[in-house]
Amino acid sequence: MQKEDLLKILAPVGQSHLLRFWDELTPAQRQNLSSQITSQDWTKIMSWVRQALGNEQQPIPFSQLQPAPYLPLQPRNETEKKLYADARERGRQLLSGGMVAAFTVAGGQGTRLGFDGPKGTFSFTPLRQASLFQFFAEGIARYQEKYQIVFPWYIMTSPANDLPTRQFFEQHAFFGLEPKNVFFLQQGMLPAFDFQGKALLAEKDSLALSANGHGGSFAALHDSGALQDMQRRGIRYLSYWQVDNPLVTLFDPLFLGLHEIKASEMSSRALIKRDSMEKLGHFCLLDGKTMIVEYSDMPLELLQQTDSEQQLRFRAGSPAIHILNCDFIQRLTADQPDFQPHRADKKVPCIAADGSVVTPAKPNAIKLEFFLFDAITLAKNPLILATDREEQFAPIKNATGEDSPQTCREALLARSLRWLQEAGVTVPCQQDGKAPLKLEISPRLAVEPSDLVPHVQRLSALRPGSELLLE
Ligand code: UTP
Repeated sequence: MQKEDLLKILAPVGQSHLLRFWDELTPAQRQNLSSQITSQDWTKIMSWVRQALGNEQQPIPFSQLQPAPYLPLQPRNETEKKLYADARERGRQLLSGGMVAAFTVAGGQGTRLGFDGPKGTFSFTPLRQASLFQFFAEGIARYQEKYQIVFPWYIMTSPANDLPTRQFFEQHAFFGLEPKNVFFLQQGMLPAFDFQGKALLAEKDSLALSANGHGGSFAALHDSGALQDMQRRGIRYLSYWQVDNPLVTLFDPLFLGLHEIKASEMSSRALIKRDSMEKLGHFCLLDGKTMIVEYSDMPLELLQQTDSEQQLRFRAGSPAIHILNCDFIQRLTADQPDFQPHRADKKVPCIAADGSVVTPAKPNAIKLEFFLFDAITLAKNPLILATDREEQFAPIKNATGEDSPQTCREALLARSLRWLQEAGVTVPCQQDGKAPLKLEISPRLAVEPSDLVPHVQRLSALRPGSELLLE
């Protein structure tokens, strides 16, 4: 496109400055900038930016917020016992009937972990140094063996990490999965803006773009043809998880069965918060609609409020584990609902008006990100089922401390020991807070304790201090 044509797009939305260096650019650079500009819907973006910068965003009426009800992990009465048994049975049928696929969002930058590469390629297991992607792939392979069916795996990447992600899978021969059953889709990017609402340039020929959040999944599933692929394969449900939580149960018959029996369009697992300050989104009800309110948005008073049983009133937190109906995603993307992105203030390196490079020491820009969980409010019959933290949640977010590779390995070891014990193996006790042995169970061998039963013989004596790799 010519400069004049680009100005026709940019001038009405107050972004002509993006062409400030146009006359210095080579034809290839002009092409780059032009395609970045024309691939954005500026009118829509500017309405989000105005909302994010101004006071146009509706504040949450906190006094009307209620905790959202959730189903417990264990049934409380005979009716629930029957419901859970039926749900498990139905879930198994859905799995063996080939109606379920996996969906992993892996487009994040992983800034907090500080790892140079897609987070899914991060090695975290104690003995094999298996990556997150390998761990999930092995789990999927094990479920395929159990249910004698293919579970297609849809992986969302971002333009920044798509190529290294695909290369990683190729280098590792897709960890034994069939490449035709692994589908990569790229999420969209959005420009960053300064606090005056001007889009920033990362280079003279390039906008400061970043991934549009995990809520970019819906558009990406649609635009990439993934939804069509699911339809062709007869997939009705997606088991959704984030790339940084290797403990997640990939396919849970109970969760899937309840989702279907209750005619839910989007279901969620809930973690009962450890304490009031645990940084999880909260499942809430507002005007009868389920929503997740971020930890940082909740007033301290509500975070700490307790009920008549002295439990936290808003105790159901989100570990970002969901089941999604393909029909629901189809409906969302066909209706083009105007999801509101969330604002995050960040340090974004950029090019100043005089062409100098700015490396900000404090946040200088807003980024806009869509959150997947905002779709819960639009879903029919959203269901929430409690989950077991020790079994399902140990995310790798930070390099050290809380939610780090270290805490994840500890949780994995504790779970592996529990599984062995449940399978009938005598395991040494933990002493002085130290791990009794180095242990790694490949998900290719076991995704639940019963998978270990056939191997109990060769595990009769587990000695403290020993190393054991089960694969
Ligand atoms: P986080 O919110 O933890 O972000 O993502 P992150 O980018 O991985 O890490 P930080 O905040 O920079 O340290 C939760 C999940 O959502 C995915 C991530 O890959 C992760 O699985 N995600 C996040 C996307 O797929 N796209 C995004 O734009 C953002």
